[in-house]
Amino acid sequence: MRFALISDIHANLPALEAVLADLDARPDVDAVYHLGDLVGYAPWPDEVVALLRGRGIAGVAGNYDSTTATDYKHCGCKYEDPRQEELSHLSYGWTRAHMSAGTKHFLGTLPFSIDLRPLGGHLAGPKLVLVHGNPVLNTVYWTEDRPDRFCLQMAESAGVKAGDVIAFGHTHRPWTRTIEGIHFVNTGSVGRPKDGDWRAGYVLLDLGEGEPSVAIVRVEYDVERAARAILESELPDEFADYLRTGGKPPAGVSGPAVRPARPVPRP
Ligand SMILES: [Fe+2]
Repeated sequence: MRFALISDIHANLPALEAVLADLDARPDVDAVYHLGDLVGYAPWPDEVVALLRGRGIAGVAGNYDSTTATDYKHCGCKYEDPRQEELSHLSYGWTRAHMSAGTKHFLGTLPFSIDLRPLGGHLAGPKLVLVHGNPVLNTVYWTEDRPDRFCLQMAESAGVKAGDVIAFGHTHRPWTRTIEGIHFVNTGSVGRPKDGDWRAGYVLLDLGEGEPSVAIVRVEYDVERAARAILESELPDEFADYLRTGGKPPAGVSGPAVRPARPVPRP
């Protein structure tokens, strides 16, 4: 069974539309799930939620979803300096003020995790667990430099065993690793990549009989449409350059001249 896993859309409608168009051109994709953080940082929270709901794409609650839905005091995001913290609070306030009551209610209904059995629940086949941050908290960053010990602890708390896959997002940087037969997949971000590549990112996962395979996919989208909409809104202007550069400072980064990569199977 071929899954498409899309995470951290963050109210970026052009990025989501491009990813869905890419998926529409792949008739071999059986199911699409999102891994949370539907809103925040860009000006289309209601439109992104409506598009996902209209397409019947289910998923889990990101920190941005659960904090806005519950009127928490901040978004649960990590700040690396005081300016980032200030920008984060501005985004959070803007998002709470501009999303509809219906969107807020919907975000509050998202489950913390989803447990999928592509061969059927009664068989001893592989399991796919979807969470946003990790199986314990959706605010904790599961970065690539986490030691194997941390990954195995997370797998245990999710009930994930050899042959299974646990997928997550939250860091906005894609990576995969296999430890003791357990496959760990960070899907990266559709709408706010932080790895220096401005293109929307998602993951294709084949899981069922045989070894799972994971492909990290990047898709060009109309980043200038997103940047313009940010500049025309009351969101901080810095968010426009953040999208254009894939989360890097403007100097010496990959800009829109980067060519799209096709999926490459990874172990
Ligand atoms: Fe996020």
